Amino acid sequence: MLIQIPPPSACRESEVTPESVYLSRRQLLDAAAGLVAATLLPVAQGEGGDYADVEPVAAPAWFREKLPGVHWRAVTPGDEAVTPFKTASQYNNFYEFGPNKTDPATRAAGLVTEPWTLLVDGEVARPGRHALEDLVGSQRLEERIYRLRCVEGWSMVIPWLGFPLASLLERVEPTSRARFVRFETLVDPERMPGQRSGFSLLDWPYVEGLRIDEAMHPLTLLAVGMYGRILPNQNGAPLRLVVPWKYGFKSIKSIVRISLVEERPRTTWELVAPHEYGFYANVNPQVDHPRWSQARERRLPSGLFSPNIIPTRLFNGYDEVAGLYAGLDLRENF
Ligand code: MTE
Repeated sequence: MLIQIPPPSACRESEVTPESVYLSRRQLLDAAAGLVAATLLPVAQGEGGDYADVEPVAAPAWFREKLPGVHWRAVTPGDEAVTPFKTASQYNNFYEFGPNKTDPATRAAGLVTEPWTLLVDGEVARPGRHALEDLVGSQRLEERIYRLRCVEGWSMVIPWLGFPLASLLERVEPTSRARFVRFETLVDPERMPGQRSGFSLLDWPYVEGLRIDEAMHPLTLLAVGMYGRILPNQNGAPLRLVVPWKYGFKSIKSIVRISLVEERPRTTWELVAPHEYGFYANVNPQVDHPRWSQARERRLPSGLFSPNIIPTRLFNGYDEVAGLYAGLDLRENF
């Protein structure tokens, strides 16, 4: 029965390595205004991250070229600590690589992210297939430090690097018939073992969707990096969505296609278990998942002796999106 599936749900405490480093070096440096630009230089040179536990990584030229112009800390979550990079990059949901939290980090190294193209089609005046570097080339990257709340009950605070989805959508000129945006992840069973597994309950490609006004909201981000570096494969390289006021499963990874459509898209988790995972998936402490409460969350890293349980906030604390749902019954439209 569907209800027995282990969907974006089974959190295992043992899979989370407790971390003592809560405050990133970036935060400390930001306190000393003026030093920021200088500290970014090593990242721009591809020598490593600006956050305490980020290891050096080679980045493609298109990414390195964007770094000097990044608007750092464009959005921050106040005084909430950034999750250590190690936690954010080793405790993942990416079912294309398997159902366990450690599968993506151990199995995604072979994902080929260069070259990468994005098809934009459907109800737009200017459909087309774009090389990733061309798409990003015209954008100023921003660092947005967002809370990420998974429907399973854990959360993190992640510094993404990206640009508003709205700026891409405006360029392709949606027609008046475009009411929803549909997103599709890469299908590559050879490199994505979850896609060739006979046990997976998901249909591929992984599909997500937003109403067009949600997609155009300034908080909705297309990310190409995190922690001052390119996205690790397990976090959805080279291009992923981040919708911070919705449960994490809406933030689709490794996107190859964005379609403007008239009808509400049929999304992956909704198809698997429609009573458990709704299309809206707005973070809401008052609307419980059928099998567990959504009133609280476990802010990672956490452990047996420091469970780090905090209250969950409506829209994950992003009150500015409330107007999108005026008059909508959030319990019915979960
Ligand atoms: N995108 C794809 N293509 N496949 C997935 O399995 N999992 C989702 C979302 N995007 C998923 C996906 C879920 S359930 C969550 S919580 C977030 O990715 C997790 O993102 P993170 O691993 O970067 O923290």
